[in-house]
This record gives sequence, C-alpha cells and structure tokens, in this order.
Amino acid sequence: MEKPQLFAEIKKKVRQIVDGTNNMNDIYCAIVKLLDEKIPYYDWTGFYFMKEGELVLGPYVGKPTEHVRIQVGQGICGQAAAKRETIIVDDVAQEDNYLACSLETKSEIVVPIEVDGEMIGEIDIDSDQLAAFDDQDADLLEYIAQLIAEKVRSVRSS
Ligand code: SME
Repeated sequence: MEKPQLFAEIKKKVRQIVDGTNNMNDIYCAIVKLLDEKIPYYDWTGFYFMKEGELVLGPYVGKPTEHVRIQVGQGICGQAAAKRETIIVDDVAQEDNYLACSLETKSEIVVPIEVDGEMIGEIDIDSDQLAAFDDQDADLLEYIAQLIAEKVRSVRSS
C-alpha cells in the first residue's frame, strides 16, 4: 500500500481509538501497537511523559531501553522537549547529543505533545533504516499528538 493511503487509514484508526475510551493509558498502548504493526520501519515505538521535570518512559513496543528517565535537553528526546518541536535525525551516528537505545537504530523521529502550552510528553520512534522518516511521518505523528492533546484536555475538564 502507498504511504499516503496507509497513513490516512492509520489516522482514521487512531481517531477511533481516541474516541473509544477515556482511559489514556489504554489509548497510548493501542496507538504504539497500531503504529508498530502497520509501519514496518517503526522498530521502536513509544511515549515519554513529563513527570517532575523529566521525561519518563511510557507505553512502548520494541526492545527494552535503559533510558527510562531523560533530562530535558539530553538526547534527541530531551532536545525535542526543550525546543518543543519535531526533530528528525536521518543518521543517529552523526548526532553528538544522542542516547543510544539499540545498536541497530539508524534514524529517529521525536514529536512533542503539548496541552494548552504545557509539554506533557512526546512520541518517539526509532528505525533500523537510515533516513527512514520524512514529512509524511512528521505529519502523521503530529496529527496523533494533536488528537492526544485534545483528549487530555477534555478528560481533564470532565
Ligand atoms: N534515542 C533517544 C533515547 C530514547 S530511545 O530511542 C528509546 C534519545 O536520543 O533521546
């Protein structure tokens, strides 16, 4: 299946997941499972959430990581949290400020999740392929981050 069609289907499924429950943990688990199953080059797919000023590992699919807590500014995840913007790294071997999860990882994308100006967490994907992520991946993951932000806002106010 072509990437635009696949990503459109995934967006639809994510919306169904988000609309289907108010249990945020169930939503996060279902989203990482869906992305891992549908996109072959997503080799580590997970969430980090801001807790007490640090990024703390949330639900993920992939090999266990030693990076359970990450300081803001540290690694790709910490840089995305500090800048509050999507970061795509085509070749992690060229990146000085990088925390290695697995030796097989070649490229990474991190997308922050913001609710009313507050950085609540991020989506982090690693690929074993070089330069695996493009604007379409950024668009898909930013869409998911937006749906999550809207849901968190509505659950908080209910
Ligand atoms: N590579 C990340 C650390 C998290 S692992 O990819 C799961 C980083 O540099 O922040």
